[in-house]
Parts: sequence; structure tokens; C-alpha cells
Amino acid sequence: MRGVVHLLPLTPRTLSFKGDIMKIVLTGFMGTGKTSVGRALSEKLGYAFIDTDVLIEEREGMPITMIFKEKGEDHFRQVEQAIVAEVSEMKNAVIATGGGVIKNRQNVKNLGNRGILVWLKADPEIILKRVMSEGGTRPLLDVEEPLKEINKLLDERLPMYKQSDTSIDTNYMTPDEAAQAIIEKLGLNTEVVPVDLGDRSYNILIGRNILHRIGLRIREFRPSKVAIISNTTIFPIYRDTVLKSLREGNINAEIILIPHGE
Ligand code: S3P
Repeated sequence: MRGVVHLLPLTPRTLSFKGDIMKIVLTGFMGTGKTSVGRALSEKLGYAFIDTDVLIEEREGMPITMIFKEKGEDHFRQVEQAIVAEVSEMKNAVIATGGGVIKNRQNVKNLGNRGILVWLKADPEIILKRVMSEGGTRPLLDVEEPLKEINKLLDERLPMYKQSDTSIDTNYMTPDEAAQAIIEKLGLNTEVVPVDLGDRSYNILIGRNILHRIGLRIREFRPSKVAIISNTTIFPIYRDTVLKSLREGNINAEIILIPHGE
């Protein structure tokens, strides 16, 4: 504790969002805005932007519609899995995934490793409108009754999308608004003060209303053990907020309280 107290008078260096989060992965059905929101988010955060569908098309040298037609969905899924494994290694990146990525458990595991999965949601009618305006680039919706197919696929995939760490409704949001909402939801509107102590280095995060996101922030690191250290005066004030957020992030933490003035 004493070390932290000594270090606080250092001039805080605003690194905006950097040096703290590894990657943000956008999941969700076709037409929920993963690409447009992802691009806006990456710009706001200064992160790289990656779209798995674009990488698949580059690798195969043809558009997705043609991959489905000439090589079949199974082949597409194999390439998709390989690309997901590669991009999962990236740091400081926003990754927009294809709507079917979450069907594969290994994909979810790879993407979730030091990353946070944000599920973008939209209503079936809005999804249909958006994908139609993009001109039939989704082979899975090239059917007689696309709305029926959207509802069917959404039903099948719902439990898989729900594995994401958090979600956001993009129905009535512009990509920019949705990106901003994600930043706020993840508590990324923080200043990061790096404390350089060699292999014991850590970051101090400072921000308004970020405590209620503590569970999700901790979860990014998939830690095996977590301790919350506070004091007997401060903790009762923030106890409910912290415990609720830890529950949301599925974090089991040991709470260590030290006497006021320590
Ligand atoms: C698919 C979604 C598409 C693309 C492919 C399959 C799916 O990506 O990967 O057509 O299975 O839902 P978008 O979600 O970016 O449209």
C-alpha cells in the first residue's frame, strides 16, 4: 500500500485508453453494425481495426458469396477459424467478426483470451433492412423468405451470442453513438497512469463512474485470483457498486479491508 501512496504524486500522464485493454471483439448477427461500429470505435481508441470477413476474402482471393458458392460453407468456416486464431493474438485492436464466428467454441475461447466480447444486437426487421441496403452480400440470406431465416438463425445462435461479456443495442444508434456507448459501458473513458516498476509494473486507472465496470475490466485478464483492497471507511460507500459489478463479471474476489489511515 505504501508504494502506491508514494507513487500517486507523480504527474499523471494521460495515455487516453492505451496500454490497458488488449482487444475488443464485436460479435453479433449480420447487419448489427459490427464493421461500421468497429471502425468508429478503433478510431476513437487509436486501436487497429480488423474485420475477419475481409481477411477471409483476402486469403481466398474472392468475395464471401463466391467462397460459399464454389467451396461451400464448411470450407468458409475452416478459413474463418484459422483467421480468428491469428487475429486473437493481436493487441490493442478492435476486431469485427462474422455473424457465425461464435458457432465455433474454439473461436469464442481464442477471442475471449485477453479480450472483451461485445455483442451488438438489433431487431430482425432492422437487420433485414440493413443487409438488403448492402445489396445481397450475405449468402445465408439469399433465400425466399429472408426475414424468416433471420429469425430462425437468431433463435439458434442466441445462446452463443449470450456468451459475450456485454451487449449493446444498435437499433437506433449511429455507428459513432454505438462506439461511444461501448466506451462508456466498458469504462474506457479513463486516464491510465502507468507505474513502471519493471516486472512489477501496473496501471492506475482514473475516471468518472468507472467503478461499476470493475468486474468487466478485471475479467479481461481472466485472472485466477483477485483481491479487492480498500479501507473500512471507503468500502462501505462503494460496496454495493463493486460487488454488483464483480457479480456481473463473474469474478470471485477476496475483499481485504485495512483500517482507516493505514
Ligand atoms: C455470416 C455472416 C457474415 C459472413 C458470412 C456468414 C453468418 O458476416 O461471415 O456471410 O454466418 O452469420 P457479417 O455478420 O459481417 O455479415
